[in-house]
Amino acid sequence: MASRVVGLLGFVMIVAAVGANAATYNVLDQLGWSIPPLGNIAYRTWAAGKSFDVNDTVVFNWTGTHDVAEVSKTDYDSCTSTNTIGNITTVSPYSVLLSGNDSRYFICTVSNHCGLGQKVTLSIGSASSLAARVLSSFALSALAFAFLNHS
Ligand SMILES: *[C@@H]1O[C@H](CO)[C@@H](O)[C@H](O)[C@H]1NC(C)=O
Ligand SMILES: *[C@@H]1O[C@H](CO)[C@@H](O)[C@H](O)[C@H]1NC(C)=O
Ligand SMILES: *[C@@H]1O[C@H](CO)[C@@H](O)[C@H](O)[C@H]1NC(C)=O
Ligand SMILES: *[C@@H]1O[C@H](CO)[C@@H](O)[C@H](O)[C@H]1NC(C)=O
Repeated sequence: MASRVVGLLGFVMIVAAVGANAATYNVLDQLGWSIPPLGNIAYRTWAAGKSFDVNDTVVFNWTGTHDVAEVSKTDYDSCTSTNTIGNITTVSPYSVLLSGNDSRYFICTVSNHCGLGQKVTLSIGSASSLAARVLSSFALSALAFAFLNHS
C-alpha cells in the first residue's frame, strides 16, 4: 500500500516537472536569424524538431542587416510587413517569451528576405507534443512504480 502511494506521488511529481521547465531556443541554432540558403525549409525543419511550450523563450540572434517583426498568419504567408504586431526590432539579440498557446509568426522585413525564406512559425504547446510528454512521464512513473512494488 505504501509503495502504491509513493508510486502515485512519483507520477504526480513527474507530471508537474514536465510542465515546469522553461526552455530557451536560439532560432536556427548556430546559423542564427539569417537568409537560409535553400529557402524556408531550414526554419520549418528547425521548428519541427522543437516542442515549444508556454513560458519558453525564443532568441533571434543575427549579424548583418536583418530585423524581426511579428505578423499575422496572412501577412506571414504573403510576407507583408505593413501591419506588424508591435514594433519591428532592429537590435540583436531579440528574445520572445512564449506567453500563450497561440502560434506566433515572425518575419524579417528587410528587402526581400522574407520572400527568400527568412521567416519562422512557432507552434506552441501542441496537443501532440503534450500527449507525447505526458505519455513518456507516465511510462517513467510506471517503471518507478514497478520497481517500488518489487523492493
Ligand atoms: C549569437 O550567435 C553567435 C554565433 O553563433 C554566438 O556566438 C552568440 O553567443 C549568440 N548570442 C546569443 C545571445 O545567443
Ligand atoms: C508561466 O509562468 C508564469 C509566471 O512565472 C506562471 O504563473 C505560469 O504558471 C507559467 N505557465 C506554465 C504553463 O508553466
Ligand atoms: C514601440 O516603439 C515605441 C517608440 O519607440 C514605444 O513607445 C513603444 O513602447 C513600443 N512598443 C512596444 C510594444 O514595444
Ligand atoms: C496551453 O495548452 C495546454 C495544453 O492544452 C494547457 O494545459 C495550458 O493551460 C495552456 N496554457 C495557456 C496559457 O493557454
